[in-house]
Amino acid sequence: MCCLDSGVHYKILSAVVDAVSIPVTLKIRTGWDKENKNAVKIAQIAEQSGIQALTIHGRTRSCAYSGEAEYETIRSVKQQVNIPIIANGDINSAEKALYVIQYSGVDAIMIGRAAVQAPWIFADINYFLATGNHLPEPSLQRKSETVLGLLKDLYSFYGETHGTRMARKHLLSMVKPLPGGEQFWKKINKITNAQQQYTMTYDFFNACN
Ligand SMILES: Cc1cc2nc3c(=O)[nH]c(=O)nc-3n(C[C@H](O)[C@H](O)[C@H](O)COP(=O)(O)O)c2cc1C
Repeated sequence: MCCLDSGVHYKILSAVVDAVSIPVTLKIRTGWDKENKNAVKIAQIAEQSGIQALTIHGRTRSCAYSGEAEYETIRSVKQQVNIPIIANGDINSAEKALYVIQYSGVDAIMIGRAAVQAPWIFADINYFLATGNHLPEPSLQRKSETVLGLLKDLYSFYGETHGTRMARKHLLSMVKPLPGGEQFWKKINKITNAQQQYTMTYDFFNACN
């Protein structure tokens, strides 16, 4: 979309907003590349088009996942539009969440990769923002319930075949840090059957306890 004029952005976004009866939100990066950051402009067009909230990943498209996310552009957007702004990128702890919220003044934060590894990060962040303290590290029992619950949800949402594949990356990040996790992951990574994947994961956690 870098070569399109603002009118085209407006037309696309308004067409989507007008086509549906539910609120439309948008997620963008800070710009095309570091020399062409257009987040403020896009945010203003989004607001005029009826977009209800905007998430910004603090990297440019050409940065992909390299370097560190920056929140200056996000802060600038927040100061110049009135729709709710959600900051995203490299928020991986409660302290970082607090820093990003305070620095950029955003209405909310969005967490990607850190939540894949530790879905309990949301509870810790909420607790930290409310009290200034951390929740204790979840017990193995709680981790096990979370992982097994996630597997069931993946199978039911994506179907067993695709769900089993999708589960692998979650198992990698959630199980690998545990004792014996790396070896277990090498075995489970080859499994293509949902029932077998679930049972092996159940047994792994039972053996850890
Ligand atoms: C497993 C996974 C799936 C993602 N899927 C999408 C997606 O469908 N659409 C999107 O805009 N970004 C997607 N992202 C990118 C994230 O929403 C986010 O912008 C990016 O990972 C930076 O945030 P983080 O540092 O908290 O991970 C995905 C990221 C991960 C880790």
